[in-house]
This record gives sequence, C-alpha cells and structure tokens, in this order.
Amino acid sequence: MVSARAFGKLILIGEHAVVYGCPAIAAGIDKGARAWARAGVPESRLSLGVSQVAARDSSESARAFRALLEHLQAASGNRSAVAVEVTLDLPAGVGLGASAAIAVAIARAACAALGIQANDALVLKAANAWESVFHGNPSGVDVAAAMAAGPIWFVRGSAPSPLPCARSLCLAVALAGPPAATHRMVDLVRQLHDLEQGRFSERIGRVGELAQRAKSALARGDLVELGRCFDANQRELEGLGVSTAELEHACRTARGAGALGAKLTGAGGGGAVIALCDGSAEDVLQAWSRLGVQAFAAEVAASPSPPDPDPDPGAP
Ligand code: PMV
Repeated sequence: MVSARAFGKLILIGEHAVVYGCPAIAAGIDKGARAWARAGVPESRLSLGVSQVAARDSSESARAFRALLEHLQAASGNRSAVAVEVTLDLPAGVGLGASAAIAVAIARAACAALGIQANDALVLKAANAWESVFHGNPSGVDVAAAMAAGPIWFVRGSAPSPLPCARSLCLAVALAGPPAATHRMVDLVRQLHDLEQGRFSERIGRVGELAQRAKSALARGDLVELGRCFDANQRELEGLGVSTAELEHACRTARGAGALGAKLTGAGGGGAVIALCDGSAEDVLQAWSRLGVQAFAAEVAASPSPPDPDPDPGAP
C-alpha cells in the first residue's frame, strides 16, 4: 500500500474570469486529501468516505475515477487494476478545491502503486480528466493549485508559475454558505457572457488588472493593497451574479473586525469566504463565530523571488 497527498486551495483573485482566459492567483492550503493505493487487485475500485465505487460503474464518481485511470493507462501502457481509498480533511463543495485535491492524490498514489513514473504533467492531465467529468469546462486552476505548495499565477492553457510573496499571508476562511455545484455557477456565468458580451469583457478586463495589481502587491508584501484587490474582486463577483447575501454579510463582518479585505473564493453561490488579516486571524474568526459561521485560519507562507536570470555583468 502506498499513499500520496494533495492540497486544497484558495483562489485569491480571478475565479470565473479565469475560465475566459484571465489570469488568476491561487494558493494551496495545508488541508486536503490523502489517497492510499494498492495494486494486484481483481478490479479498480475507489473508496471515498462512505461511498465505494468500481471503475466500471456508471455513477459520476466512478466515471471520473475511470477517466483518471484511463489517462494514466494510456500514458504508461500499464492496464493493471488498482484499489484506492481517499480521506479528506477539508469540506467538499465549498470552493476549497476538494475535488481537485482528491484527483491529484489519487493520481499520485495510483502511479506509485502501479510503478508508473509520475511526472507533474501526467498527474495534472489525469486529474483534469477527473475534473472534466464533474464540471465539463474546468480552467485547471484547482488542479494546478492542488499540486503547488505556495501561491501560483495561473492562465488557462499555460503552465502555472510560482509567485514571489514577500510576506506570509494570514487568512481567515469561513464556510459562509451552503455547498454549491461549480458547474451550475460556471453555467450561470456563461449565460451572462452570452447575454451581454461587451459589459462582460469589460468586467473580465478589470479582474485581469486586479490580478496584476495583486501580483505586484504580493511581490512587495503590500497587504493593504492586496486587501483592496480582494474587495474589488468581490464587487466584480457580485456583478457576475455568483455572490449571495450570506457571503456578502460574512465579507462585511470580516472587514468590520479589521480584515484588510474579503471576498468569496471558488465558484460562489454559497461556500467559502476568505479574509486577509493583519497579523492574526483571531478577531475575524471570533466575529464569524458570533454569527454562527464555521471558520478556520490558513497561512500562505512567504516565498522568495526567483534569482535574477540575467544579472547585469557590469554591475559592481
Ligand atoms: O470548484 P471551485 O468552487 O473551486 O471553483 C473553481 C473556479 C472556477 O473559476 C469557478 C471554475 C474554473 O474552472 O476555474
């Protein structure tokens, strides 16, 4: 039996806009999925909490598992069966990337059990095959963040790049609304896109500018500016129709408790809100707890700037 782990994620800037080619910033968090895999079994099976499926079944999770395994088999030529068991230590369906974390953990563990050389590109593609079953048109940001330790810059169709982050980020995460289906929210946004293309592109353009501003704020360690970007992104998400009264109330409560900025994270329609805190998440967590909202703190560690690839040879 071998095991592998993958992270859940927070989208700091750019959910939904990322589906239309806009850059997004996301970061893995220290909660996620662990998969245990065993080869030498008669048929491929997946056990996820109380649910158990065989890869040949017709349920959505069986089809996703089959799509993932077929990808690994096609790439490696290894058609052996594998039994996988997954545990999750973050809530599902609330925008924290549970599905992508499960997929990445399964792909890594299955590769290890089957003796397949698991490079990142293979795991990424296999996990995206899983994601496609659940939501049809994933941008890939969840899977990319599930595989990365720190913040990433993600543009659909390109390899994600690690983002320099001069100061660690202290975030409070609230489960502010009921779970919502990502594919339903993505469909809702697509309807808006089809209805008013001009205004939609302007909005997406503004989110792209916010992503650029947030990227430089991260690099400088300017948390006040990053908080402003969170708030402005939340307004754009409200304009896209994916926010809810509960999520907005949680954002206002967080700002009232001293957060530098707050926004929904993930597909919206319910689910999670993140608040950027100044030093400690305690005041925001307490304010949410008074509302009866379940919440936890998450840290995104500072990450160094890459070395200058072309230092000036004439410099002293
Ligand atoms: O599945 P969620 O809630 O983490 O949302 C994924 C992010 C979206 O931008 C809404 C969809 C996508 O594929 O990028």
